[in-house]
This record gives sequence, C-alpha cells and structure tokens, in this order.
Amino acid sequence: LETTHRVPIIWEHFQECTCCSESFIRSDHPIVADIILDKVSLDYTMTLMAASGHQAEAAKKATMDKYKGEYILCVEGSVPLGDDGNYCCIAGRSAKEILLEAAEGAKAIIAWGSCACNGCVQAASPNPTNATPIHKIIKNKPIIKVPGCPPIGEVMAGVVVHMVTFGRLPELDRIGRPKAFYAKRVHDSCYRRPYYDAGLFAETFDDQNAKNGYCLYKLGCKGPMTYNACGTIKWNNGVSYPIQSGHGCIGCSEANFWDNGPFYKR
Ligand code: SF4
Ligand code: SF4
Ligand code: F3S
Repeated sequence: LETTHRVPIIWEHFQECTCCSESFIRSDHPIVADIILDKVSLDYTMTLMAASGHQAEAAKKATMDKYKGEYILCVEGSVPLGDDGNYCCIAGRSAKEILLEAAEGAKAIIAWGSCACNGCVQAASPNPTNATPIHKIIKNKPIIKVPGCPPIGEVMAGVVVHMVTFGRLPELDRIGRPKAFYAKRVHDSCYRRPYYDAGLFAETFDDQNAKNGYCLYKLGCKGPMTYNACGTIKWNNGVSYPIQSGHGCIGCSEANFWDNGPFYKR
C-alpha cells in the first residue's frame, strides 16, 4: 500500500442526506485522513473539496479526461428518473445526465448506502420522484454495493482500501455486496442471540425482560433478515450499535426497509 499510486476518485452526491459521507469521515481503522491524504486522490466531492462552482466542475472534468478508465466513481444518493430528471439537478444538469457522463470513464463504481443501492427513503411508496438505484441505470460497469443508512464508516474505508491495495474489486455476493462485510446477518453475530435461542424476549421496551437485555425480536427486530456487519464492527469506533442501544435492527441495509421496517405501527 505504501508504494501504490493515489487512485483518483470522483464522488457524486445526488438524492441523499450526506450521512454516508458523514459516516465515511468517521472511520477510525483505517483512519480516514490516511486514506484521503495518502492513498487516494479525492478529486471531486461536493462536501469535502475546497473548490466550488466552476472550479470544482473543472477539477472533475480534468480527472475524467486524464484518468479515463482508471478512476473510481463513488455515488451517494439515488437518481430520480421522474419528470425527466428534474427533481435533482446540479448546475442545471440532471443527476441522470451527470451519472451517465461520470460512469463512462470509470473503472468501477461504488454505490454508497441504501440510497444508491436501493433507493432508500426517496423510493419509499409511492416513490414520487421515481428514485432509482445506480445499478438500474448503469449496466456496463462493475458496481460494488455498500448498503446501509448509512454504511459503517470502517466498511466504507475497507472497500476503498481494498480497491487501492489490490487494484480490483473485493469479492462480492450475488447482489453485488462485499462478502467480507455482508455475508452474515446481524442476527448471526448478535450478543442477544442466546436469549433468542432460549426463547427469552422483551415484550415492551420498558419491561423487565428489556432491562435484562433479552432478545428484541418481538419488538420488531429485523436482524434475522438483515445482512450487515453491525454486530462485529459496530459503530462509533466499535462502541455500540442499535441493538446494543436497546432498539431492534430496522434493516437499514436491506432494500425497501422504509416500507418494511418496524416503524411503530400499533
Ligand atoms: Fe443518507 Fe441513508 Fe442515503 Fe446514506 S443511505 S445518504 S445515510 S439517507
Ligand atoms: Fe436476532 Fe434481533 Fe434478537 Fe439480536 S435482538 S438475537 S438480531 S432478533
Ligand atoms: Fe442498520 Fe440494523 Fe445495523 S438498522 S445500523 S443494519 S443493526
């Protein structure tokens, strides 16, 4: 890794909330500053670059021209195809137009978060803007899906470092997620799993069983059908994750979780 050249990255933001970027910059191992300052050349990103406006767009164009076929395109956000793309425009151009242009010369695409992988909240029924994930628009490039709302920062950093170190995609599962982080369900590494297996469940958020730390399945936990690394890598430098904080997993790394999730229907 010390001897590899800095891989150019173009990072687009479309229909999103920017918390995927927020998560990424909090990666602690590897620490994100080491990646951004030493391992990659983050040539374009609306949130982290010093340039803005025409200067920023010129930097992106320069990268697309100079490193055609070499740069990695990261995409945060879904793309609205409704109303001819007018729901998300940047500098007068639609997200779809910008995506198609940036994807053409990319070596590979990383779809960050559930917005880019599945459409996320924008695609929740009735999906008024026709929010569309990246793989449904770009068909001729390798796409790595890194779902989650947001994905874990260390997972994002791990994917980038793998690409930089080995010069190829990480091993992916059948729907395009890195196996290293998405091969197991949250349920498989949950520290409350012994309670599940023993049939010990919290019935309400404030009963004695909840205080005992019993399984949250009856409170809507989606851990048994959610593939993510939360139980092992955890969040905030390995401090905790939703289940450890007392709430079930809402399946934020699975498609359609806004329509399927346990959002307190009583
Ligand atoms: Fe925000 Fe979630 Fe979309 Fe990431 S996946 S940009 S955290 S809404
Ligand atoms: Fe499985 Fe959720 Fe229970 Fe953990 S809390 S054991 S993930 S159902
Ligand atoms: Fe998301 Fe479930 Fe992890 S809600 S953060 S996949 S525990």
